[in-house]
Amino acid sequence: MTEVLDDQRTWVVPVGEVLPGDVGAELAALPGALGTGEITVLPRPLRRPSRVLLAGLGDGDEAGWRAAGAAIVRALADDEHAQIKIPDGASEAAVRGLAEGLWLGGYRYRDAPTPPRSGPADLISDNPSRYERGLAQARATATAAWLARDLTNTPASLKTPEWFAAQVVAEAAGRPGVTVKVLAGAELERFGGLRAVGAGSVSPPRFAELSWTPPGVPSPRHVVLVGKGITFDTGGISIKPRDAMKLMKKDMGGAAAVVAATLAAADLGLPVRITALTPLAENAIGGAAFRPGDVITHYDGSTSENTNSDAEGRIVLADALAYAAAELKPDLVLNLATLTGANAVALGKRTAALYSPDDELAAALAAAGDAAGERMWRLPMPGDYVEYLRSDIADRVSAPSGPGSVMAALFLRDFFGAAPWAHLDMSAPSWAEAHDGALTKGATGWGARMLVRYLSTLDGGQQSGA
Ligand code: BES
Ligand code: MN
Ligand code: ZN
Repeated sequence: MTEVLDDQRTWVVPVGEVLPGDVGAELAALPGALGTGEITVLPRPLRRPSRVLLAGLGDGDEAGWRAAGAAIVRALADDEHAQIKIPDGASEAAVRGLAEGLWLGGYRYRDAPTPPRSGPADLISDNPSRYERGLAQARATATAAWLARDLTNTPASLKTPEWFAAQVVAEAAGRPGVTVKVLAGAELERFGGLRAVGAGSVSPPRFAELSWTPPGVPSPRHVVLVGKGITFDTGGISIKPRDAMKLMKKDMGGAAAVVAATLAAADLGLPVRITALTPLAENAIGGAAFRPGDVITHYDGSTSENTNSDAEGRIVLADALAYAAAELKPDLVLNLATLTGANAVALGKRTAALYSPDDELAAALAAAGDAAGERMWRLPMPGDYVEYLRSDIADRVSAPSGPGSVMAALFLRDFFGAAPWAHLDMSAPSWAEAHDGALTKGATGWGARMLVRYLSTLDGGQQSGA
């Protein structure tokens, strides 16, 4: 448990360490333990401290401290003067959890991407050097999640493919080792899927390629991150029903996460080369929209028969994955996408579906997700289900029968190439209906925290890890 003591400022200290006045006796009289991230307030009129706030730490591990941090920042609300004093002797994991919880729980969408504010989450310590690394990781992680949330919460009227690409360019500016390339118009000739999906919109598609190259690392491992960047998904001519369309500004959550994680990797100076690819398009309705029955030629020359224009994500991702395999010599490819409603049917609201032929990679990603507070569960890709993908007029259909999230993974499998890969269907955990621990109502920024965690485990060499 932690307490927050109000003597002009607000301090967080561990119970037992500093118990001024008669607080100790009052605490001893309190019944029972608090649940993880549960808060209780002891008002103490006319006494010092005038208010004691208790937060449940669960097992006292990083997740427990994260939950407590989020609960504390909510309880402090808009207390401008609050300062959180890091408890002396706290572990690095505890401090990282506390800081992440404070920053993530304190997120609010404003109309422009902003770094974590200080305010109620201003952290101070008597021993700053001891916590430098944990706090740097927490800050990079929270900054990434904030950016991913900001991009995803932005209304689609503003968030055109061009706008999104411009945000990537703006974020890259001034970061050494970070470069961006944006393809548009005729430069997208080979991206037949991206052009088809974007054809119905007055805001034409873009393809943004963001790269981080670590200085001084000879032939670093090259990780390619691909993120679905549909800035709004109406379903196209295979239009979505009213309720299913409501939240579809979030359909670029994968792109937001891979961009944010790449910037965080640069800020942390991670010794891996990272390229984030974001195929950006609006899946709109109009006279120029792609139609059911159309045949699309992808970047690798293979073809897909569009059988449902609402299965647009896999069509744009196919081009991006084929581009990565053909042009980037990746050592590892990770794909993140708000790809199917079936993700939530299978796994519920807070768990992404994880697909990979590589046991070790799947385990490492799941572990990074658990540590970061972004859960995944691995689902199979049964080889015999590929029969559902059969088309009479193309190499495959885009919207086969069979289990939705699994079939999307089987569709994408063709495009990954030879490097180890994983695909994450993150439709469900990309959005929160209400504040929930470190998640704030609206976009969760899902994937950014897990990616920062996972990428931080990789060393620069090509031989080991992954
Ligand atoms: N963007 C949606 C998936 C989605 C659904 C994301 C709910 C977040 C919340 C995707 O483009 C889509 O429409 N998928 C279809 C695929 C189907 C047509 C094969 C789906 O899941 O119904
Ligand atoms: Mn769709
Ligand atoms: Zn979509």
